[in-house]
Amino acid sequence: MKAVIYKQYGAPDVLKLSQVTKPTPKDNEVLIKIYATSVTTGDQKARSLDLPRGYGLIGRLVFGTFAPRRKILGTEYAGRIVAVGQSVTRFKIGDDVFAYPGAKFGGYAEYATIAEGAAIALMPASSSYKEAAGLSFGGATALNFLRDKAGIQSGDKVLINGASGGVGTAAVQIAKYFGAHVSGVCSAGNMDLVRSIGADSVIDYTQEDFSWQENAYDIILDTTGTLTYKSAQKALRTGGRFLMVSGDLPQLLSMIFATKTDGKKGIGGYAPEKAEELKFIAELVEAGQFSPVIDRCYPLDQIQKAHAYVDTGRKKGNVIISVDDGI
Ligand SMILES: NC(=O)c1ccc[n+]([C@@H]2O[C@H](COP(=O)([O-])OP(=O)(O)OC[C@H]3O[C@@H](n4cnc5c(N)ncnc54)[C@H](OP(=O)(O)O)[C@@H]3O)[C@@H](O)[C@H]2O)c1
Repeated sequence: MKAVIYKQYGAPDVLKLSQVTKPTPKDNEVLIKIYATSVTTGDQKARSLDLPRGYGLIGRLVFGTFAPRRKILGTEYAGRIVAVGQSVTRFKIGDDVFAYPGAKFGGYAEYATIAEGAAIALMPASSSYKEAAGLSFGGATALNFLRDKAGIQSGDKVLINGASGGVGTAAVQIAKYFGAHVSGVCSAGNMDLVRSIGADSVIDYTQEDFSWQENAYDIILDTTGTLTYKSAQKALRTGGRFLMVSGDLPQLLSMIFATKTDGKKGIGGYAPEKAEELKFIAELVEAGQFSPVIDRCYPLDQIQKAHAYVDTGRKKGNVIISVDDGI
């Protein structure tokens, strides 16, 4: 089958379109014909090993010490089940699904196998494969941080820093779903986009520094790594939570050891890949409460261009890769 593989870390040109053996599902796995995948910041980091300060060694342990352990990137994808293992009961041949293997990757290929108990769910009936391929990485991360880590409540005042990116565009919509009042921070050119997905107010970070506001937010979610707990704490209300989705190790350590007053908290960590979260997101899509923002779409043979675009750090929402336009 056709797949994009990489054998060394580096610039987008390490990604090569190749022929590899089509996988066979184990007893508990399904085989998916992939129609669309995406280029997430997770793929970009695993390709380049350009990681936040302090995470270099951990990155090599996760992705492969001297060379990539998993040669096919693609943290999320959408497609149709074409074969099932003997013990599979949750899915059947013909089901349209979206999957979020995360750091197990596998989306940059015509076919992938995944365990039926992993992060996989039926596609929302209203979504195309391209839309479904952009639901998981941002959606599951935003859901985990806002709902599970921060316990978002209706009426909360929430600020999303990096509101125009993959995680940010999902976080704005999911925070609105939970009944929050949402402020989005982005550059001037993305203000209309952030308003269009539901933000109640938008702040252009080149013109205004929100961190001077006092007691303004119950939750501040940062996807950019430009904030620290210390710089954000004044803007938090009593009991407020600072969510460090992105940041380097010194930022994380300084957050953990910072003196916290008024019940404020700093929360970092990893958002795990779970089927329950994908199902929840699919329901939001069906209810018209969530829609993935798609910036650009490239065919699989232009994967290097797609990665080069994501490398700019300026993508809006999701960059989708069409693996097969057959349907
Ligand atoms: N902890 C976890 O489990 C987890 C899970 C997923 C992702 N992440 C991390 O989260 C980060 C964000 O991922 P992503 O996919 O959302 O990235 P992305 O799509 O590249 O978005 C980043 C956004 O940051 C904005 N930005 C850049 N500088 C800014 C500033 N000074 N102030 C405000 N916004 C700024 C950019 O918007 P403008 O063009 O408008 O500036 C861009 O849209 C990545 O580092 C990723 O590795 C962590």
